[in-house]
Amino acid sequence: MTTIRPTLRKVTSVLRHLNSHHRAHSTSVSADELSHFSSLASSWWDPMGPSRVLHLMNPLRHDFIASCLADSPPLPLASASDASSPPPANNLRYLDVGCGGGIFAESLARTIPTAANSTLKTVTQAASITAIDPTSALIKIARDHARTDPNVETHLRNGKFTYKNCTLEDLVASLQEASEDQKFDVVTLFEVLEHVDSNATSSPLAFLTDCLRVIRPGGWLIGSTIARTFPSFLVNQVIAEAPWPVGVVPRGTHEWSKFVNPDELYGWAQEGLMRSQDGAASHGGSDALQGMRWKCSGVMYFPGLGWKLVPGSEDWGNYFWAVRKSV
Ligand SMILES: C[S@@+](CC[C@H](N)C(=O)[O-])C[C@H]1O[C@@H](n2cnc3c(N)ncnc32)[C@H](O)[C@@H]1O
Repeated sequence: MTTIRPTLRKVTSVLRHLNSHHRAHSTSVSADELSHFSSLASSWWDPMGPSRVLHLMNPLRHDFIASCLADSPPLPLASASDASSPPPANNLRYLDVGCGGGIFAESLARTIPTAANSTLKTVTQAASITAIDPTSALIKIARDHARTDPNVETHLRNGKFTYKNCTLEDLVASLQEASEDQKFDVVTLFEVLEHVDSNATSSPLAFLTDCLRVIRPGGWLIGSTIARTFPSFLVNQVIAEAPWPVGVVPRGTHEWSKFVNPDELYGWAQEGLMRSQDGAASHGGSDALQGMRWKCSGVMYFPGLGWKLVPGSEDWGNYFWAVRKSV
């Protein structure tokens, strides 16, 4: 006990310091979330561990992204079409926000063509990916894991795959003066929105607006989250966070009040599109909504088959969603 107390005090002071650092730049990250996710870092890549659900959901993310791109492809960069040589088959720049230990980011990096297969076209058409997370322990785990695959390590070295331990707000600030071709074609936000802190200066709407700010016209913001309904309370809090062997998610992972309903999200997506364009809320309608596309589908887990899209089941719990920024 005597040795535990100073250690606990040290951890608390590090977390307080981290939190004050983040608050200087942003307020969307809560100290409780950082502490919770740090504690899961060492088991992140165990497919049977606490991040099991994320591992199981990952293949469906690639399918859903592919369906968005097939529906409305991002516009090719003007600079790419001016070039004398044809643009590469995989030409999309990705940003993964709240990448955690890299389950999705690394799987996407694996689809970036290498020098030996440079004409390869994959369903997600990734040319590069930047993955960010505020939890430093998770970024370390992500980098260490990525280095175990030689192709992925090559992408880390040549800059096609980058991990950054930073907040979304820091990244947005660093891109304030960026040209359109330094922004992203696809921003992904898987299982993050329900962890964003709401306070005087932060909200899910502000967070979504920041995501939309760094997307090029015609690009997609694609994510997944959990609806705030009674069935989702039963499934995601009572059952999923029950003690082993019933529960599959560590206790304290979710706070039901932070879950987001699809109609709320749709409203924030519209408002975010308008704000990301002119910097202010403009309820009177705007050009920003002209070319908007919206996709939303519930997802469910079927033992033996994995996670599948089940349109109409959005209110039952987990759902995938996507918004395309107007051109
Ligand atoms: C459930 S994990 C999802 C990780 C990853 N997106 C995946 O699906 O494999 C939630 C992640 O969101 C991050 N996170 C929490 N609050 C955040 C915030 N305000 N901004 C960005 N990321 C945040 C956590 O550090 C954690 O890595």
